[in-house]
Amino acid sequence: MCGIVGYIGKRDVAPLLLEGLQRLEYRGYDSAGIVITSRTAAGKPGTLKMVKAKGRVRELEAKVPKRFAGTTGIAHTRWATHGAPSDENAHPHLDADNKVAVVHNGIIDNASELRAKLTADGIVFLSDTDTEVLVHLIARAQADTLEEKVREALRHVEGTYGIAVMHADFNDRIVVARNGSPVVLGIGEKEMFVASDVAALVAHTRQVVTLDDGEMATLKADDFRTYTTEGSTTTATPTTVEWEAESYDMGGHDTYMHKEIFEQADAVDRVLRGRIDDRFSTVHLGGLNLDAREARGVRRIKILGCGTSYHAGQIGAQLIEELARIPADAEPASEFRYRNPVVDPDTLYVAVSQSGETYDVLAAVQELKRKGARVLGVVNVVGSAIAREADGGTYVHAGPEVCVVSTKCFTNTVVAFALLALHLGRIRDLSVADGKRIIDGLRRLPEQISEILAGEDEIKRLAAEYAEAKSMMFIGRVRGYPVAREASLKLKEVSYIHAEAYPASELKHGPLALIEPAMPTVAIVPDDDLLEKNRAAMEEIKARSGRILAVAHQVQEKADHTIVVPKNENELDPILMGIPLQLFAYHTALAMGRDIDKPRNLAKSVTVE
Ligand code: AGP
Repeated sequence: MCGIVGYIGKRDVAPLLLEGLQRLEYRGYDSAGIVITSRTAAGKPGTLKMVKAKGRVRELEAKVPKRFAGTTGIAHTRWATHGAPSDENAHPHLDADNKVAVVHNGIIDNASELRAKLTADGIVFLSDTDTEVLVHLIARAQADTLEEKVREALRHVEGTYGIAVMHADFNDRIVVARNGSPVVLGIGEKEMFVASDVAALVAHTRQVVTLDDGEMATLKADDFRTYTTEGSTTTATPTTVEWEAESYDMGGHDTYMHKEIFEQADAVDRVLRGRIDDRFSTVHLGGLNLDAREARGVRRIKILGCGTSYHAGQIGAQLIEELARIPADAEPASEFRYRNPVVDPDTLYVAVSQSGETYDVLAAVQELKRKGARVLGVVNVVGSAIAREADGGTYVHAGPEVCVVSTKCFTNTVVAFALLALHLGRIRDLSVADGKRIIDGLRRLPEQISEILAGEDEIKRLAAEYAEAKSMMFIGRVRGYPVAREASLKLKEVSYIHAEAYPASELKHGPLALIEPAMPTVAIVPDDDLLEKNRAAMEEIKARSGRILAVAHQVQEKADHTIVVPKNENELDPILMGIPLQLFAYHTALAMGRDIDKPRNLAKSVTVE
């Protein structure tokens, strides 16, 4: 999804911004642009110089002229919403006098209405974007300061935005504003940065301030201030980003997806570190803000997330029911708000998000808070919007995930849910012995993950064999079903092979009609109380000449191939069973020559509805 980066200071701005844009490439985009200026003597207007290009950042870089010097600038990678990918529609956008430049993430909902009014007043639009209305509104604003002009323009606008604005007449500053789309300030030594994602900042500074919705900021080379869109000053205390710039490098792997799959043993170790309390066979989750008495009062848990995070939430709900015996379920956050849900005071809501910025999840959290619910966040990005909006929660400590296709964050999120379930269970009815059993199982995970990943060559061989399939079925029962759903999503996202996921028990209620030799099935077959039932489902498939790849704890006779994974505790097995299928999806996509880290049509962080 779109990315913003900006700088004001003494350094040559264009190379800095282009490097920042490259760090945001992983978010997905189709065009890019940059506008810069130089400081002038007080009262003397500057000149805005702009270059834009459809395509990749390197195409933009190739278009930047040799003499393109400046010390202030903003730049953008665009993911088309209003108007096709093109040079004209790429950001920044300028007004007719080349005085105001704007880059924008988000969607202006009333753009057509505003465009019609501005056109009637004689404004000529140069692009099809919703963003361009903002430029003209700012240029026409009567106020004396840039801050006031931006504020005046925003009063007319409905929708979501993270914006950065430059003005030739106020070229000692960049003004930024946030409503529903992330804006992070990076504090340097006599220089300031702004970006939509810390990935673009960490090479230069790790001191950041994350704006809240309804907040604006003015950046000057040697200071910054924050205030609301109404004008009142806000307090902004910089925090330190823990992630190093190197965590964003490929580290010897050919793709981020491969790197991130192979980081999982360490990532799981990290989410467990410092949290296990052997004395009471429980875990400490510092940020929950839920004391034992409150935890005992919870009657139901509702988990909300999108895509992979929703699937992690489904496994989380099962872990909570099994270990804490609290009724729990997961629902797509994108649907939740629209069915006018009954919000019950005894229900604890849990919002799950890798990025912490997914609009659908954030909006669900805001709707819940408005109705007085208590919401916890299970989030990867520290200080992100959902983490800040929630009443408490836990970070999943997976480290930065760059590939659009989520792998290590999924695994760490499920482990974080296991910790939450154990914590709640030990406050309620989970015995010391069962608590210890789960803790021992959690401790075995990193080694078992490494064991699975050591089997990469065999998984690669299997992937090559199945890569010819036009369509694949994924099945599992109870604990295995969310694993099947996530594995099917992984395969679709990265290889573009059509995949369906069903509970194995549902096969004979319809999907069995699809089974034939050309439609292979991946079956999740843990050694648990449903083993025989899963075997029966495989029999049904074999009887229809379907090919089967099983992921199991022992070789399955009915399957054509089995990927054998190490056994853990029944409740924790789903964490391990999905991992070989991440590699399976990866190698299938590789064999098909797909753009692994940036699958078509997808973005890493979906900050629009
Ligand atoms: C994961 O592989 C996907 N690209 C996608 O489903 C993602 O999980 C979803 O958009 C939610 O993102 P979040 O975890 O950052 O909220």
